[in-house]
Amino acid sequence: DYWYSKNIQIKLALIKYIIFNIKNNDIKNFVLLTFLDTARTFSYTRNNEFKLYRIKIDDILDFDEDVYSYFINRLSNNIEFYKNYYYKYFKNKINALFYNEAFYKKNKYFDVVLTSPPYGDSRTTVAYGQFSFFANIWLGNDEARKIDNMLMGGKNKKQLLNDSIIAEQIYNIDKIDSKRAFEVSSFYIDLRDSIKAVSSSINDGGYAVYIVGNRIVKNEYLNTDKFIAESFERENFKHLFTYRRNIKNKRMPLKNSPTNKKGLLSNTMTEEFIVVLRKT
Ligand SMILES: C[S@@+](CC[C@H](N)C(=O)[O-])C[C@H]1O[C@@H](n2cnc3c(N)ncnc32)[C@H](O)[C@@H]1O
Repeated sequence: DYWYSKNIQIKLALIKYIIFNIKNNDIKNFVLLTFLDTARTFSYTRNNEFKLYRIKIDDILDFDEDVYSYFINRLSNNIEFYKNYYYKYFKNKINALFYNEAFYKKNKYFDVVLTSPPYGDSRTTVAYGQFSFFANIWLGNDEARKIDNMLMGGKNKKQLLNDSIIAEQIYNIDKIDSKRAFEVSSFYIDLRDSIKAVSSSINDGGYAVYIVGNRIVKNEYLNTDKFIAESFERENFKHLFTYRRNIKNKRMPLKNSPTNKKGLLSNTMTEEFIVVLRKT
């Protein structure tokens, strides 16, 4: 009742009921994505806020309640998008498996692992816990409020990472704010552990492709792309190259990622790095 008007609750519940009657699981999941997006859009949450805050009472009075139109439009767009951009690739005989979970060592081996890990801990980088809150609630996940703690870097390890390419930056952060240094370290410790598990599941000669953004904490530029390359190199991978891509979709190949210079970039979300490695 805090996040939805009665009218919207009923409309959402009806759509959910219909979706849960779809027999084919793949189609059900596909449609569910649009539903979960709709459930977030029609909640009284403020956009562009890091934490979950409800919109002002005046805005509640003017709130758009046309849930069905939104849902149908989004669903048609998603179907078009899927058909035009993804579906054609699956006609080739590529055996692709999708995991959306922490990666544990599998009993199978892969030629290529392509992923985009989190760019930093969820509390201060991209608020995945907040963004997925309504989806988790609607799916009946009892742990919806605990997601941030479960994500990469979510548990404070009370340990400073001092044996990596970003050790100096962590040391500098520690001088200003030791709590922050612990949080930053916890994230990179988890990321390194995850890379270890991924590495052991890649065939010899296979590839790892990681897409990541670098961020600045306490004015320290953190070279997460280099950290990823370094972590894979510890597992007998060779760093082939890092592509730098900015949001406008301009691509430029780059042998080395930017230096550790402070304040090199003020906006961490303007570019992404695609780190490509090969198991030797
Ligand atoms: C940069 S996003 C990439 C999402 C997706 N791989 C893609 O490329 O669209 C990072 C994702 O990692 C997820 N994540 C963070 N910590 C995780 C963990 N411990 N286990 C599983 N997923 C996690 C976040 O929820 C988020 O969806």
